[in-house]
Amino acid sequence: MTRLDRVEQTPGRLAGPPLTPRTAVIWSVLRAELERRPGTALTVLDVGGGTGGFAVPLAQAGHRVTVVDASPDALAALTRRAADAGVAERVRAVQGDGDALAGLVAPGSADLVLCHAVLEVVDDPAAVVSAVAAALRPGGAASVLVAGRAAALLGRAMNGHLEVAATLAADPAGTAGPRDTLRRRYDADGAAALLGAAGLVVEEIHGVRVLADLLPAAVADGQPAALVELERALAARAPWRDLAAQLHLFARRP
Ligand SMILES: C[S@@+](CC[C@H](N)C(=O)[O-])C[C@H]1O[C@@H](n2cnc3c(N)ncnc32)[C@H](O)[C@@H]1O
Repeated sequence: MTRLDRVEQTPGRLAGPPLTPRTAVIWSVLRAELERRPGTALTVLDVGGGTGGFAVPLAQAGHRVTVVDASPDALAALTRRAADAGVAERVRAVQGDGDALAGLVAPGSADLVLCHAVLEVVDDPAAVVSAVAAALRPGGAASVLVAGRAAALLGRAMNGHLEVAATLAADPAGTAGPRDTLRRRYDADGAAALLGAAGLVVEEIHGVRVLADLLPAAVADGQPAALVELERALAARAPWRDLAAQLHLFARRP
């Protein structure tokens, strides 16, 4: 039985978030962390948290969430979403840069820091990861989601874009050239090394969207529960994990 299986069998406070192929594996890992301290309102920081897809369910589960994001539009949407969900008082929206967290939140104060789909778009991912580590209290955990390199290459090739796939294969940063919307992509070792260099200890790595992006929409939309189950079954297993569209790393500040 994997850790994900054990978690799904345990009823937790975090009952709300919908389990989609994009989020089910991440929520399973987060739920396990939240259940380490049942009944405690945790201090959560969501760096580049956008419109609050994770922040609002965490606030609904009773936690205090600060979202730091560079985009005022995203923060405005977050604020509306939190108000609609009745948790405005537990969600703080702060406009700012991920590598300047020290001036925005107290160092060593966060029980849990989320940094999802951010390291592939920022100027200096090492500076952001350093800031994430500094924001955590000792023993606090980081949930980091990054774009996967292998999936991007396979996706281009399967759509017939072999030159782009070759560019991706050759580029040390794993981009598909100057028109790529992302500035870099990761494999599991590279992402783990980035977190390790900031003093974080990586405890788990899962693949997110191993199959979801490869299936015809009719299959993905027609059998959502089966797809979620399959994603969860494959998430931690070689070689499937490393072919996922995103890699989720769960790490702790010693
Ligand atoms: C792809 S979205 C991810 C949103 C959310 N974390 C999620 O997983 O759905 C990237 C987010 O990072 C924010 N962002 C980009 N660069 C940033 C930076 N340097 N500091 C803080 N936020 C940043 C963007 O405004 C955007 O909301």
